[in-house]
Amino acid sequence: MVGIIDGHGRNISYLRVSVTDRCNFRCSYCMPNGHVSWFPKDEVLSYEEILQIIRVAVNAGISKVRLTGGEPLVRQGIIQFVADIKKIAGVRDLSMTTNGSLLSEFAMPLKRAGLDRVNISLDTLRKDRFSQISGRNMFGEVIKGIESAKQVGFEPIKLNMVVMNGINTDELIDFARISIDKPFEVRFIEYMPVHSRGRDLLFPTSRIKEIINAAGWGKLVEQPSGDGPATIFRFSKGRGSIGFISAITDHFCNHCNRIRLTADGRLKLCLLSNAEVDIKGMLRVGVSEADLEKLLRRSVWQKPAQHDLNEVQSCRRGMSQTGG
Ligand code: GTP
Ligand code: 5AD
Ligand code: SF4
Repeated sequence: MVGIIDGHGRNISYLRVSVTDRCNFRCSYCMPNGHVSWFPKDEVLSYEEILQIIRVAVNAGISKVRLTGGEPLVRQGIIQFVADIKKIAGVRDLSMTTNGSLLSEFAMPLKRAGLDRVNISLDTLRKDRFSQISGRNMFGEVIKGIESAKQVGFEPIKLNMVVMNGINTDELIDFARISIDKPFEVRFIEYMPVHSRGRDLLFPTSRIKEIINAAGWGKLVEQPSGDGPATIFRFSKGRGSIGFISAITDHFCNHCNRIRLTADGRLKLCLLSNAEVDIKGMLRVGVSEADLEKLLRRSVWQKPAQHDLNEVQSCRRGMSQTGG
């Protein structure tokens, strides 16, 4: 499937759409001061505007769409929006990244609306620690949400653990064990220092692998990776798998296939760079779909070759304003 070719010869086929910057959690790595100010409502793209952009993007070659936030499930009308995206011929894979807290209510309607997959954030298996990391006492709801996602038949389900040195690194084995006992893809994500907080929280993938390999469960066998950022492994006796997302120590920029649309209507060309293009401005002066497609293609052409670690810490947007 041919996507949109960027200036470095990469095939861009994946659009991550942040539907809102709002969230019912306050994860420390995402909103480090416990809060960011929300975008004013009239700055946020309407569903109709987002659908128009997705239609243009799909026409240009995008075939994978992921809904992110903030927390996508806090935006009113999200189920109908999923159903409307699903009607666009050419959207081959429609997925969502969620904190899971509202999934016990929404898993079934999402499935019925046609969502293909969910990735769920889970940084700890300890209730008290969960409250410290997320700023909310909702561990039970998230666990129920994961179970609901499983029950309604989402497959695969990926669990995203942001690994933070000294904060949840004593749980690496417990998370790895989930991939043996249950059919989940457990993903260990290197902490990305997108705020003034330094690199002290980074716990490199190489050390995670050492710890897991020492558990005595046999050899971790590499699997063919999909087109995402994770390298995937499994234990021969595992029902699930383990993914490593090593954005800092072994970045995957040379095969990056994605761009982002932020809730306030910017195309973000790389998660860890400040390069952005205002698409909302064009949309709101009534530009034609043909001109919108030209803007999209021109923007994709300018996608940076890779992120610059010096720029990472000066990212103007927090993760909740980007969608991870
Ligand atoms: P799949 O389609 O299931 O492979 O999803 P995904 O891994 O692309 O999406 P998800 O939202 O679950 O992201 C998992 C982690 O990967 C998050 O921490 C993201 O911030 C990170 N991530 C996703 N895309 C990029 C990227 O382009 N660059 C960097 N540095 N990190 C990314
Ligand atoms: N470093 C790594 N991953 C992050 N996420 C949010 N902030 C960070 C960060 N600083 C993850 C969330 C979610 C995904 C969208 O991005 O845990 O799983
Ligand atoms: Fe919300 Fe996700 Fe940010 Fe946590 S990481 S505060 S769940 S947007």
